[in-house]
Amino acid sequence: MKKISLTGIKPTGSLHIGNYFGAIKPALELCERFDARYFIADYHALNTMKDAQSLRRATLEIAALWLACGLNPEKTVFYRQSLVPETFELSTILAAFTSKGLMNRAHAYKAAVEANTAKGNDPDSGINMGLFTYPVLMAADILLFNADYVPVGRDQTQHVEMARDIADVINHTYNKELLTLPQAWVHDSAGVIPGLDGRKMSKSYGNVIALSLPEKELRKTIMRVVTNSQGVDEPKDTENCRVFALYKLFSASKEDEEALAKRYRSGGMGWGEAKEELFNAANRVLKPIRERYENLISNPQEIDRILREGSQKAREIASQTISRLRNAIGL
Ligand code: TRP
Repeated sequence: MKKISLTGIKPTGSLHIGNYFGAIKPALELCERFDARYFIADYHALNTMKDAQSLRRATLEIAALWLACGLNPEKTVFYRQSLVPETFELSTILAAFTSKGLMNRAHAYKAAVEANTAKGNDPDSGINMGLFTYPVLMAADILLFNADYVPVGRDQTQHVEMARDIADVINHTYNKELLTLPQAWVHDSAGVIPGLDGRKMSKSYGNVIALSLPEKELRKTIMRVVTNSQGVDEPKDTENCRVFALYKLFSASKEDEEALAKRYRSGGMGWGEAKEELFNAANRVLKPIRERYENLISNPQEIDRILREGSQKAREIASQTISRLRNAIGL
């Protein structure tokens, strides 16, 4: 039996190549090794997004993007959280086994309280119950599908540990392996993608290469990668070079990588040329994604159909977990 990997994708904001290499690509690689269950976490987004049009649009966009990046809905159960109501039944059950103290310790909630306190506001100002109980909903997402591995960024590992703790309490209470204990799967590459200025690529630094850039914009953005001021003739160092680091991510092979490294070392190649190589490599990877994305997003009914079908499959799995649990706990 294959192990199960599961992750939730929040439909917020536009994505950049840091997200692609740090999260999307590694998660898609897991689809080959595991039975993967990936979903759009639209109920999680509701905590912060209160505009119907934006939420609907963001859901379609993020689904189109994952499909464009190579998620195969025939092989991976790909669904929308809000179309799997079993999630909310499990969430209510889990709440009865979750101490409030555990929620008080969740990073996101704690950070919001601290920010309020620092400003002299009421500690809970602007914090809704969705944010407070976020880890319970996330535990329901995970435990409903018997996930063994949960590919997430480092900031989400605490939530996965909480899901594990809650599952453990239930298993102990009924002295039965009712729920699978999940484990976070953190990718080493996460967080080390350099941005245009060399700091970690992040929306908050404004140093990103967006995934959806049209070709011309992509070239322009790549020309903005900050380099040192070495002249054309000078031999160049591949270490600590953003252009090279980005090239390595996109390059098709070790041979390509070595070929560019050789040109760096031998001198005679200016930064403009190096960036042109980077642009070509990046465009080779991003062009097909861009084209598939454009295709899908101009056909939202198709995205809807895929998500609805996936959600049907998801509900079949979910309902088994729910009846197992209902039986065991006397509901
Ligand atoms: N909380 C995750 C994030 O902010 C998204 C998410 C929701 C998730 N439910 C999940 C991730 C279940 C993994 C498993 O990115």
